[in-house]
Amino acid sequence: MPVKAKKWILAHQFDGVPKDSDLELVEEELPELQDGQILLEAEALSVDPYMRAFASRSLKEGECMMGTQVGKVVESKDPQYPVGTTIVANVGWRTHAILRADQERQGVGGMPTVMPATPAPGLPVSVNLGVLGMPGATAYFGLLELCQPKAGEVVVVSAAAGAVGSLVGQIAKIKGCTVIGYAGTDEKCKWIKEELGFDHAINYKTRDVAESLKEAAPNGVDCYFDNVGGDFLRAVMQQMNKYGRIALCGSISEYNDSIDSPRSGVPTFPMIPNELRMEGFLVSRWLSRWPEAFKEMATWIKEGKLKYRETTTKGFENMREAFYGMLRGDNTGKAVVNV
Ligand SMILES: NC(=O)c1ccc[n+]([C@@H]2O[C@H](COP(=O)([O-])OP(=O)(O)OC[C@H]3O[C@@H](n4cnc5c(N)ncnc54)[C@H](OP(=O)(O)O)[C@@H]3O)[C@@H](O)[C@H]2O)c1
Repeated sequence: MPVKAKKWILAHQFDGVPKDSDLELVEEELPELQDGQILLEAEALSVDPYMRAFASRSLKEGECMMGTQVGKVVESKDPQYPVGTTIVANVGWRTHAILRADQERQGVGGMPTVMPATPAPGLPVSVNLGVLGMPGATAYFGLLELCQPKAGEVVVVSAAAGAVGSLVGQIAKIKGCTVIGYAGTDEKCKWIKEELGFDHAINYKTRDVAESLKEAAPNGVDCYFDNVGGDFLRAVMQQMNKYGRIALCGSISEYNDSIDSPRSGVPTFPMIPNELRMEGFLVSRWLSRWPEAFKEMATWIKEGKLKYRETTTKGFENMREAFYGMLRGDNTGKAVVNV
């Protein structure tokens, strides 16, 4: 029986804040399976900031929106992936996808098409898109490998109540650091301070970043995990200590800039007298080591040392709203869509 599937396509290239007309929901009839192929049915899909940053660079108008989902094999002509297997797949915003599990893919960061789901008894499968998925690996390796925080040091993280930032702050606490998180609402600040154990939580929409940071870190900052870029990065750079480390993870404050808006440069001078190290990264750099991160984080979850949260939207037809909402800051923790 041919399957009627739904997918979201990039109808118009994003320019500035995304508009409803930029993404369109369409139906398609899928062909019969060929040998070696599987039919995947989505259970939960991820909406991530990189989609805003990379869609216009990687997709042509009319192509399926990029993204990762966790789903079940519902038909199979590949004995290695029998019906019922749960997998994480980079197949875009689709309810159903026909694919070969061994297919190479050169998407953002060259992520593979299919990855095994991490067994996590008692947790929803959507954790494969969050704490035990790409954002979890981002927090773990970006912080531990690039910032190399030591006990007693001061760590700052922006977008601190989001998927990556909420984990970065908690991992830094586990490593014995003093953690300062910036988020965009008082409710988010309350969550990261009272429930996640951050030492300071500051609403960057109501407080000046430079001024509030001088108060929270009178002796300066050793590590900055930057999810935001732009003015935020400039403000934190001025307060870095000698030999400070900055991990450039994302620059969400700039993703909605219009295509030809001028970019303001980051001042490099503070880097010289303070001998700072600043490094950008893609989490795919450590792809072969992701299971190591998931194993340790799953243990921390079980021990109650690491908490995660998901902001869930119900319904594939609401993907666009979930995505735009995440860009606006509607989510606390990981933004996911349950089909
Ligand atoms: N390098 C990599 O391999 C890699 C991998 C994954 C993610 N990332 C990057 O990491 C960052 C966080 O990603 P995520 O998945 O964890 O997203 P997220 O934090 O769960 O969601 C995005 C959050 O960004 C905040 N935000 C939006 N506009 C902002 C602005 N102008 N200034 C400050 N904050 C703003 C919003 O929270 P508020 O309410 O706090 O404003 C929003 O909830 C993004 O920049 C993303 O591109 C990089």
